[in-house]
Amino acid sequence: MQDQRVIIVTGGSSGIGRAAALRFAAQGDKVLITGRRPEPIHAAAAEHANIVGLVADVSSPTDAARTVAEAIDRWGRVDALINNAGAGAILPLAEATVERITDIFSVNVIGPSLLASAALPHLEKTRGAIVNVSSTFGHKPGVALSHYAASKAALEHLTRCWALELAPVGIRVNAVAAGPTESGALTGMMGLSLEQAASLKEQERAQIPLGRRGIPDDIASWIVHLVDPEAGWMTGQVIAIDGGLGLS
Ligand SMILES: NC(=O)c1ccc[n+]([C@@H]2O[C@H](COP(=O)([O-])OP(=O)(O)OC[C@H]3O[C@@H](n4cnc5c(N)ncnc54)[C@H](OP(=O)(O)O)[C@@H]3O)[C@@H](O)[C@H]2O)c1
Repeated sequence: MQDQRVIIVTGGSSGIGRAAALRFAAQGDKVLITGRRPEPIHAAAAEHANIVGLVADVSSPTDAARTVAEAIDRWGRVDALINNAGAGAILPLAEATVERITDIFSVNVIGPSLLASAALPHLEKTRGAIVNVSSTFGHKPGVALSHYAASKAALEHLTRCWALELAPVGIRVNAVAAGPTESGALTGMMGLSLEQAASLKEQERAQIPLGRRGIPDDIASWIVHLVDPEAGWMTGQVIAIDGGLGLS
């Protein structure tokens, strides 16, 4: 029988991260989820006995080592790191400030890098996997999205560089690039009002060739598959799961 695997999912209390955590847990993996707010973390952890929550902020440099240490202290191994937590903003260039740009890059680029670095010795032991969660806008330009888009473009290129660097030690690194997906993101990290979010959702739906926005499970199923041994010969790839938006 295969040993029980241990998966870290950042931003596991909502949306795509929560759906991925539930899928890993349902197939028997132990899952450590992180998030900044305790209540949603506790609520998500209560949904399955295999899920444990940790209040941790991806933008805090000390939380990367603390997150990996929590998984090791509990279960002694790490098989996969899912860099899912993200930050973004509708941010026209004229309104860009050092604080707003730094807020985005510290969650989308620096945090995933520090987490991957901290997890490295453990992933090497398990010949594990890293999955980074990018966006259609990691490779498609968007108005007033330049810093979010550039941070996801950086994450996509980190994916390819890490894949090459870590292949000799058996660690695979891939990314999913999600299209517009039902979650807390528009009113949460993008800071839109309910009315603004509803109008943007309708615009997005109209632009998506397959005619609908995604649901978290559309993305989560690919995250889980990329960790699976069946994807064992795949590394350095960015899979677009976006209803065809990236083609339009
Ligand atoms: N939904 C979309 O349309 C879409 C499209 C493309 C890409 N994505 C990407 O998908 C990922 C997940 O987004 P989602 O749509 O599922 O969003 P969501 O429903 O808002 O969930 C975000 C999760 O991340 C956590 N989080 C946010 N900032 C964090 C931080 N600094 N440290 C730790 N946890 C943090 C949130 O909890 P707390 O707020 O309590 O910290 C929450 O658990 C992001 O990387 C996003 O860029 C989403």
